[in-house]
Amino acid sequence: MERGKSVNPLKSVEIRPLKKEDLGAIVKIDEKVLGENRRDYWERKLALMNNKSSQVSLVAEVEGNVVGFILGDVSGWEFGVPDTVGWIDTLGIDPAYQKQGLATALAQELIKKLKAVGVRTIYTLVSWNDWDLLQFFHAMGFTRGDMINLELKI
Ligand SMILES: CC(C)(COP(=O)(O)OP(=O)(O)OC[C@H]1O[C@@H](n2cnc3c(N)ncnc32)[C@H](O)[C@@H]1OP(=O)(O)O)[C@@H](O)C(=O)NCCC(=O)NCCS
Repeated sequence: MERGKSVNPLKSVEIRPLKKEDLGAIVKIDEKVLGENRRDYWERKLALMNNKSSQVSLVAEVEGNVVGFILGDVSGWEFGVPDTVGWIDTLGIDPAYQKQGLATALAQELIKKLKAVGVRTIYTLVSWNDWDLLQFFHAMGFTRGDMINLELKI
C-alpha cells in the first residue's frame, strides 16, 4: 500500500501563518519529536522571528489544533531579486499526524510564498543522522547543493 495517504485521510487541514500564540503547540510538537521540553529555546526563537519582516512561517491546523509547523526566511530581502534566496530553518509534524502529507502541504505553501517574493533557490541544512528529514527533502525534490558546511570545535 502507498505510505500514508489512505490510512487516515485528514479532514479540514488549514495551512496558515504562524502566530506568537502558537508557541505552546510548537513546544509540544517539538517535545513529542525530540523527547525534550525546549520552551526557552522556542520562546527566544519565535521572539527573534517576530521581529523579522523576512520570515515566512506557517502552521498546519487539523480540526482547530496546530499539528505541524515550518519556519522559513528570505535572505537578501532588502536587495530584491536576483540574489534573493529562501531558507527552511526547521519543520516538525506531531508524530500522530506524520505520514499523511502535512509536511508536504506546509512545504508546498512555503515554496509558493517564497516564489512569490522572487526566491528561486531554497536552502536548508539537515543533519546526516536525520533520515526522516533527509528522505522528506529528497521526496520534495531537494538535492545536494554546492555549499558544504565547515565546523571548528573550540
Ligand atoms: C520529516 C517530517 C517533517 C515528515 O513529515 P510528514 O508530514 O510525515 O511528511 P509527508 O507525509 O508530507 O511525507 C512526504 C514524503 O516524505 C518522505 N518521508 C516523510 N517521512 C518519512 C520517513 N519517516 N521515512 C521515510 N520517508 C519519509 C516520503 O517520501 C513521503 O512520501 P510518501 O508518504 O508518499 O512515501 C516528520 O517526520 C517530522 O516532523 N520529523 C521530525 C523532524 C524534526 O526533527 N524537526 C525538528 C524538531 S520538531
